[in-house]
Amino acid sequence: RPKPQLAPSLLASDFANLQAEVERLADSAADWLHCDVMDGRFVPNISFGVPVLEAIARYAKQPLDVHLMIESPQDYLHAIRDAGASSITVHYEACPHLHRVVQQIKKLGCKACVALNPATPVSLLEDIAPDLDMVLVMSVNPGFGGQTFIPNTLRKVAALKELLVDCGSPALIEIDGGVSSDNAAALVQAGADVLVAGSFVFSGGDPVGTLAKLRQQVDE
Ligand code: DX5
Ligand code: ZN
Repeated sequence: RPKPQLAPSLLASDFANLQAEVERLADSAADWLHCDVMDGRFVPNISFGVPVLEAIARYAKQPLDVHLMIESPQDYLHAIRDAGASSITVHYEACPHLHRVVQQIKKLGCKACVALNPATPVSLLEDIAPDLDMVLVMSVNPGFGGQTFIPNTLRKVAALKELLVDCGSPALIEIDGGVSSDNAAALVQAGADVLVAGSFVFSGGDPVGTLAKLRQQVDE
């Protein structure tokens, strides 16, 4: 099994110094840079969109993992890809025609990922799982950084792992929300492949050091 991947969320970084924030992560233990796009409709908060993604991409060394918390994501996929996204995540709850959206993402040459809100069961992915590159399990309600990890996520990750194995899906499992050194090892143990962490990485003022410690912890 490949080593767990770390994806710091730039939502918790200093937006007034994005270039410096992205550059200081260049030689860190970060495998991907997680970018949270919010529209104030699907979630009750607005973060940033395509022009800011383009700015991040200019300085990023790691691939951009773009998490779309927006309604009608199908209307923005092309622009998000052109802005530099390597993987694109859409929410199950925002896509009545999820199969079509997933094929569109893959056709654009990006990795296709579907996110589940905390109340959305993993069983709903049964028929799309074989087409996915990744599933993002929200461990908080999307919209804000710094929220408390929902403990039921561990059970959910284990159930998703079983579902993916059963249907022969190669999809990675990504966890997003309230991830810290308190739950990282347990998440990996349950089957998580990618850990997103925002406030845990940035709030201590030493993102590079915190990522290095997290790396060591999950590799053990
Ligand atoms: C929340 C976003 C997360 C957020 C995580 O809606 O999807 O990516 O940045 O932040 P923390 O790690 O602080 O919960
Ligand atoms: Zn996110």
